[in-house]
Amino acid sequence: MSIPKAELHLHIEGTLEPELAFALAERNGVDLPYASTEELRQAYSFSDLQSFLDLYYALMAVLRTEQDFADLADAYLARAAAQGVRHAEVFFDPQAHTARGVPLGTVVEGLARALDRAPERHGVSTRLIMCFLRDESAESALETFEAARPHLHRISAVGLDSAEVGHPPSKFRAVYEAAAAAGLRRVAHAGEEGPPAYVREALDVLGVERIDHGIRSMEDPDLVARLVRDQVPLTVCPLSNVRLRCVDTLADHPLPAMLDAGLMVTLNSDDPAYFGGYAGDTFDAVAGALPLGEDDLRRLARNSFLAAFLDDDEELRARYLAEVDAHRF
Ligand code: ADE
Ligand code: ZN
Repeated sequence: MSIPKAELHLHIEGTLEPELAFALAERNGVDLPYASTEELRQAYSFSDLQSFLDLYYALMAVLRTEQDFADLADAYLARAAAQGVRHAEVFFDPQAHTARGVPLGTVVEGLARALDRAPERHGVSTRLIMCFLRDESAESALETFEAARPHLHRISAVGLDSAEVGHPPSKFRAVYEAAAAAGLRRVAHAGEEGPPAYVREALDVLGVERIDHGIRSMEDPDLVARLVRDQVPLTVCPLSNVRLRCVDTLADHPLPAMLDAGLMVTLNSDDPAYFGGYAGDTFDAVAGALPLGEDDLRRLARNSFLAAFLDDDEELRARYLAEVDAHRF
């Protein structure tokens, strides 16, 4: 679906398509334990978040140089633009690379090279969001933040991702305080596999402005009332939720109930190379499987721009919203 939209929940490492993985493996002399792209794609069958993360981190072995990160991001931006994405807020996982000996500067400067060119090359504005791995220690997150200080002019926000259950947001209070003091915006994954209490903690302890996923908020009516009252954006990823078995089928997804409740929901693709669809594919899939009308789809697209970190360019936000309003299905 080509309606203009912002992508607010997108892990750049989750856009690594099998073809690019093999090309980078060859360029860098990395052995992949798969004979072909088809065989690799067949491994994309997941029982839960952890089973996906195991493959997601393993495949990152092919990403080594600034050019690799630039090529990865440029390939994503080209695909996103072709599906109506006009603004992309891109997550990256620095610790997944520094742990393999790739310097943080290589990652950030490589991604920035592609992002800087995205407006002219693809007609896409961008922001970069640095995520901490919640299954690593709080000290590691703090060390990562300190190492990122020379690059903070490239980074708009911090986030929190990886294995959720057993790693509550409160573990990362200190690094979020440091990020806030440095003027960064804050988001966090919460309520994907973890309980509604993690959504509350992300808001109350980390001071986040958006919740990534948040679907399990629906189990807690008081929390839903608060999220509706404060219009806290939830960056929902239905194809991911199905592939990681957070919901049984797309037809069972709580997205319509979330919209009916008055929640500020946006539609996102999370790790599109692994979960079967980029932003436009995701709009198509939910429109096909769920009782959503054109008004709902337009509302989801509007929400994506309303929830975007575009406060430093309200003119651009207004232009994007006008494009959504002018869209004909
Ligand atoms: N890292 C990449 N995708 C993720 C997801 N859906 N949840 C948590 N961490 C992730
Ligand atoms: Zn995610």
